[in-house]
Amino acid sequence: MGNLIESKIYIEEVKSAEHLNADDKQLVEKAIEAAKMAYAPYSNFNVGAAVLLQNGKIILGNNQENAAYPSGLCAERVALFAASAEQPKTPIVAIAITAQSDFISVGKLLSPCGSCRQVMVEYEYRHQNNIRILLKGDSEKVYIVNSAKDLLPFCFNPSRIQPK
Ligand code: THU
Repeated sequence: MGNLIESKIYIEEVKSAEHLNADDKQLVEKAIEAAKMAYAPYSNFNVGAAVLLQNGKIILGNNQENAAYPSGLCAERVALFAASAEQPKTPIVAIAITAQSDFISVGKLLSPCGSCRQVMVEYEYRHQNNIRILLKGDSEKVYIVNSAKDLLPFCFNPSRIQPK
């Protein structure tokens, strides 16, 4: 058998948003607001994301669905792309993500899809800083991850496509 390579993920579990610092609490509240404005008539699964930039600006995103299903986009990428389009030179320091649905159980730990993780890794690389990720499902609890790379171990990152 070959050697085993271990990869650990550290996730901080916080009792409720009330126990977060003021910046984190505000970001989670903004993500909840964003989820309420999602356009998700096909899945009825409303996801909200709030991106905090290094200059204090907060940019919201929510899932945008489409009758041609694959044309829709996740909340996280709507927010991240808007942030990068508006403030290309400003590092992204945190993102809060939540979801609400009247029909589907969201679950305690809502975690972003693989494509959104890959996009977060790209911006971490672009600005050379970690993005703090705050995750809130349908319980009071908030889960915190310190970097997108923790959610995407052994990821494909931009350094892989640098010329020789
Ligand atoms: N969705 C997100 O917005 N973010 C994720 O990380 C996973 C899923 C959206 C896509 C679709 O509109 C709905 O949730 C159901 O998959």
